[in-house]
Amino acid sequence: MNVVTTVIKSRHSVRKFKPDSVDELAIRDAIECAALAPTARNVQPWLFGVIKEKQVLEKIAELADNGRFIADCTLCFAVFGEKKETYYLEDCCAATENLILALQAYGVSSCWVAGDKKDYAEPVRILLNVPDKYTLVSLVAAGTPAEITIAPKKVQKKIQFFETYEKE
Ligand SMILES: Cc1cc2nc3c(=O)[nH]c(=O)nc-3n(C[C@H](O)[C@H](O)[C@H](O)COP(=O)(O)O)c2cc1C
Repeated sequence: MNVVTTVIKSRHSVRKFKPDSVDELAIRDAIECAALAPTARNVQPWLFGVIKEKQVLEKIAELADNGRFIADCTLCFAVFGEKKETYYLEDCCAATENLILALQAYGVSSCWVAGDKKDYAEPVRILLNVPDKYTLVSLVAAGTPAEITIAPKKVQKKIQFFETYEKE
């Protein structure tokens, strides 16, 4: 264990937040970390939005049926990818995870809400006035946790192999 693995292991999806504000430095640093994610051919095909206005958060929550809790988060990130780039999805997912882990390192909890392939991807893009060349990949609701649920994980030995796979 070290400081990075401790941060990774302490992360859980949080969907209930306290009404505290989030430090501006944490927001900006998390986006910087997101934008340092690896990308195919170093294309960096992304655009990161930060939404704090309650009215806009409520509109996003209304559109994103599986992210209703966005209405009550402190802020929501919206990660968009340039859809003409072959690997925009992989690249933007790598960025989303970097963003989430960087937030966690600042004690800011979050929850990834699906964007790609969702019916609401286009309405969210239009709502946020984002150019048509981008498509929504993910939303990340964030804030100070009010409630943390620990999701069960698969047993390590069932999901790994070394050298070649062997049936049990
Ligand atoms: C691609 C992706 C899409 C997700 N979409 C949603 C979502 O729309 N709504 C939601 O509440 N959680 C969403 N999640 C969070 C997962 O439900 C969560 O990561 C999973 O239950 C495991 O819990 P943990 O993050 O606490 O380990 C998403 C996670 C990923 C990686």
